Amino acid sequence: MDLTYRPRRLRRTPSLRAMVRENTLSAADFIYPMFVHEGSQDQEIGAMPGAKRWSLDSLIGEVHRAWDLGVRCIVLFPKIAEELKSEDGAECFNENGLIPKAIRRIKNELPEMTVMTDVALDPYSCDGHDGIVNEDGIVLNDETIEQLCRQAIVQAQAGADLIGPSDMMDGRVGALREALDEEGFEHVGIISYTAKYASAYYGPFREALDSAPKLDVTKLIPKDKTTYQMDPANSREAITEAQLDEQEGADILMVKPGLAYLDIICRLREESELPIAAYNVSGEYAMVKAAAEKGWIDEREVVLETLLCFKRAGADLILTYHACDAAAWLKGG
Ligand code: PBG
Repeated sequence: MDLTYRPRRLRRTPSLRAMVRENTLSAADFIYPMFVHEGSQDQEIGAMPGAKRWSLDSLIGEVHRAWDLGVRCIVLFPKIAEELKSEDGAECFNENGLIPKAIRRIKNELPEMTVMTDVALDPYSCDGHDGIVNEDGIVLNDETIEQLCRQAIVQAQAGADLIGPSDMMDGRVGALREALDEEGFEHVGIISYTAKYASAYYGPFREALDSAPKLDVTKLIPKDKTTYQMDPANSREAITEAQLDEQEGADILMVKPGLAYLDIICRLREESELPIAAYNVSGEYAMVKAAAEKGWIDEREVVLETLLCFKRAGADLILTYHACDAAAWLKGG
């Protein structure tokens, strides 16, 4: 054939392919989500093989392991004892609570590790919602934000570097920025869950924290989070959320879940100059683990490909439960 262009020329050898490769993956791109609980034994999480609810002591060991593999940021999620949960989630701003304790220990032992926190009421709410639910079954916006500001300040006091509001209340980024600044935490960043969808992919996470919305005959509790998390059918709305978060002072924008929402990552990348993070959520992790366990896919290849594709879509950072495995594989382990 008389072809002028033969794209296969640049695919012919590994060296040529490496020269023209547009995106690469590095352990420094990862944020490692970790679960912590008060107990002294680590606990397995059924739908998330390999992830654990760490005791405080083992958490420190795992943070060191992540650091040695090149991971530079972790995000903490607490499994709160049932008796500490309440309607207003007040345990979230207990300065001697699980999360502040965990942050202080990490910052004591490995101060260089960037510590991100999650800001929302669900781990602390007996109703299993990210905000306060009133007697009519409405998740209250402004009242919830007051709690979130208290939560963020306690996290910043304990040493958190990045505050991650995952609640999807309106105006929370601006309120958090103001509250942090007032308390002298102008150096603490906000990584906003900007486009967080009401997704079934969060199932295993809610099992890990026992934080799913509760059914209660005595009270109207919404069975899902669709009045505050975004509708999976929408993409323009993600741009609106991104614009608001930027105006309100977010430092990093996040899209969540990741895999089924690569188009949203791509759109935010075009709309904003801020760093974009993708959350490779618990359900995405569980599906890979399950298929790999059955021997139906090659876990290592699938994970590295998936993470790279987040970069190609426009993400700078990736929150992923595969962080340590992927970092080890990138090192050739
Ligand atoms: C809570 C929160 C959730 C996740 C992160 N923060 C669950 C939810 O909104 O119900 C999900 C993470 C995952 O599935 O990996 N605000």
